[in-house]
Amino acid sequence: MTDDRSIPSRRDLSGLPRFEPGTVWLVGAGPGDPGLLTLNAVTALRHADHVVYDALVSDEILDFAAPGAHREFAGKRGGMPSPRQRDISERLIELARAGARVLRLKGGDPFVFGRGGEEALALASAGIRFRIVPGITAGIGGLAYAAIPATTRDTNRAVILATGHSAGGAVDTCDWAALAKTGAPIILYMGMTFLGEVAAALMAGGRDPRTAVAIVVNATAATQRTHVTTLDRAAADAEQLGLAAPAIVAIGDIVNLHAALAPFSLNATGQVG
Ligand SMILES: C[S@@+](CC[C@H](N)C(=O)[O-])C[C@H]1O[C@@H](n2cnc3c(N)ncnc32)[C@H](O)[C@@H]1O
Repeated sequence: MTDDRSIPSRRDLSGLPRFEPGTVWLVGAGPGDPGLLTLNAVTALRHADHVVYDALVSDEILDFAAPGAHREFAGKRGGMPSPRQRDISERLIELARAGARVLRLKGGDPFVFGRGGEEALALASAGIRFRIVPGITAGIGGLAYAAIPATTRDTNRAVILATGHSAGGAVDTCDWAALAKTGAPIILYMGMTFLGEVAAALMAGGRDPRTAVAIVVNATAATQRTHVTTLDRAAADAEQLGLAAPAIVAIGDIVNLHAALAPFSLNATGQVG
């Protein structure tokens, strides 16, 4: 088999959508590895006049943008408060009305815990046309890089994506006991701050304390780290090992597949494990 990547293919990229001035593309950049960008995401980066990007979008990905494109950070930076969602939406509207091709670039998928829905609604109310470009969400693609399949026929018929963001707060709207009772694996986004509270609520709801848990930090990046533990130990392990966001926490039998798959699964740096 040849390894010459310069051999032309039969298909060029001319069939991809055009980025029209005065429109906004809400694009998912995937969990970090630039190889997980979609062709539409690369098109958006190449043609955007203005890129408004979030904290989890790496420089490696931003470097696909045209040299003249204006880059504007709209995420949370070093302890500073995040910009208000309303201000970001208004900025997108302002740029589109000025005739720019506006790329709103988000980590993972824009519609999975990414506020893409809120921004799309704001654009629709302002009469601005937009295109949604889905991305690979960290809870599926990030776990895949850690050799943990979201489903297999032998383990689960359903999978739950949940956020742990409000779990320690007064307004935790998630019924953890109800989720526990489904028996389905739970994939937790933003789960590190309140991991102890979530684990306790799931065990109180009937989940076995020995349920397997994987904490995948910096999934798909060269610095990816996977720690496998159990539900009753997960929060203590995370603290002891200094595991911090961004991390995906997988809870359930799917995690048990990691031991068999990881020794053969090549990661972002081409190593196994
Ligand atoms: C605001 S949410 C955005 C989720 C994103 N829209 C997605 O679809 O993946 C941020 C959370 O996503 C998860 N996350 C995003 N990228 C990650 C990565 N590379 N490794 C681990 N977790 C990640 C973490 O739980 C992080 O706290």
